[in-house]
Order: sequence, then C-alpha cells, then structure tokens
Amino acid sequence: MARSIATTRTAPDLRDRVAAWRDAGKSIALVPTMGALHAGHLSLVALAKSKADAVVASVFVNPAQFGPKEDLALYPRDEAGDLAKLLDAGAALAYVPDAAEMYPPSYSTRVSVGDLTDDLCGAARPNHFDGVASIVAKLLMQCAPDIAVFGEKDYQQLLVVRRLVRDLDMPVEIVGGPVIREADGLALSSRNAYLSPEERKRAPVLFQTIRDVAADLERGRGADDAALAGRFKLEAEGFRVDYVAVRDPDTLRPLSGPVKRARVLAAVHLGRTRLIDNVPVPSR
Ligand code: PAF
Repeated sequence: MARSIATTRTAPDLRDRVAAWRDAGKSIALVPTMGALHAGHLSLVALAKSKADAVVASVFVNPAQFGPKEDLALYPRDEAGDLAKLLDAGAALAYVPDAAEMYPPSYSTRVSVGDLTDDLCGAARPNHFDGVASIVAKLLMQCAPDIAVFGEKDYQQLLVVRRLVRDLDMPVEIVGGPVIREADGLALSSRNAYLSPEERKRAPVLFQTIRDVAADLERGRGADDAALAGRFKLEAEGFRVDYVAVRDPDTLRPLSGPVKRARVLAAVHLGRTRLIDNVPVPSR
C-alpha cells in the first residue's frame, strides 16, 4: 500500500498528537504554509527537521491575508501533491484545517503588529499583515511548537512574526530559512506559476536588479541613490514597481547615505503577477 503522511484537520487532534510527542520527550517544529509547495517550502521542512524531532507542516490558504482584489480564488491548490511532498521531505504530520476550523462562526479577533506593517508590502496590501499575524498567532497557539520556520523570501513577514512572538511572549523560537532560487536567480514562489513563458524569461531581472543595488551599496553608494537606480532599471525593463527599498535589516527603518548593514527589498508587478524579493548587505 502506498505510504501517506499522517494528516489532521482539527486543532484538538493536532494538540493531542503534539502532546503525545512531548510526553515522549520529542521537540516539535512547525512550518506554516499556504500549500502549492515547491523546493523553497521543502527547504524549510529540511531546516525544521535539522532542529527538532518532529515537524508539523500546516497547509491553509488564509483568506484573511488576501485583499478583495487579490488572487484568493486563483491561488494554486494541490492538496494531494502537497501531502506527497511533505511525506518525501520527512514531515511527521500535515495539519490541513478548513476555513471553518480556523474561522468559526462569530470569529472576530484580529492581531495587528503596529509599525513594521505600515509600509513596503503593508502599504500596497492594506490588512495583509493583520491577516498573517492573526493566522500565525492561531497556528502557534494550536500547535505550541518549540520552533517555527518561515522563509526569508517574505522578509517583512518574517520580521512581523518575530515581533508578534516577542510582543506576546510566545514561547517559540522563530527561525528564518534562506531564499531558494531557480538557476537564473528567480526566487521560488507559488505565484511564479502565474507567469507566462515570456514573463518567466524576464522575471529574473528582479533579482539581478536588487543584487546590483546591494553591490552598489557595498561600493559605498548612498542608499537613496542606489534604490532609485534600481527602480529606474526595473521600470525600464517593463516592471510596475511597488517599491525598491534599502532598510535596516532588523527594524525595516529606511536608511540613507552609505550603509554597512542593510536589506534591499523590492516588490514589482509583471503582468498580473506580483513578485517580491530581497537580499542582504553585505551579501553572505
Ligand atoms: O508565507 C505564507 O505562506 C503565509 O503568509 C503563512 C505564513 C503560511 C500564513 O498564512
């Protein structure tokens, strides 16, 4: 008989299984996802496995983090494929709640993480980070893991989650996993599936541009100047630019003039697809 991953769809059952592992002396890692899993997600599972005895991966396309004009209905879904990939990656349990489990009738609580969420993706996607913070808070409460792993690809999200956990004294360590890229530099994302073949060929310009901005910064170019050059390059290549920004890597505060440590972040639209990416300065 074909093997399949242990799967649960309810929070009480998730708690019981995690409690049984705890009683057996095991540590637990959670990898929250919205499914449509790719090698980037699976690298987070591998990182989680290297740090804990049992890995729970959640798969839930969270309506609360999509705006009214965004791609909730179109968001790629492949539960059977996701479960097979999680099994291969060595996750011990898939948590696949439905919307009624996460948002029961009269659900009304919203978690909002103040200043970190006001600009960059927060400016372009109002309420997005409230939706993320709320669902991540629920997942952490439901699973109560020792660690939870999030990708650096969503760098602002990673910092929002770190702040959430710190501010609410949640007893969990948040671990960031590096961006995984295609051979041509395009950061892996479930939304890359929306790109037409022609857009897919152009998409790596996003990474090339922010890498060039980072190299300019390392050569001593001022942050504002370098970011503007990046924006011009992307616009000249036909991208609609939400932002190219040079920020403090811990607080996301804007930086100007020469910088020693920074994060270069960008968000663009290519056709109907919104792409985000970021790189550290200095590069690792
Ligand atoms: O990064 C994602 O896939 C989602 O924002 C997350 C963290 C699973 C919350 O829905």
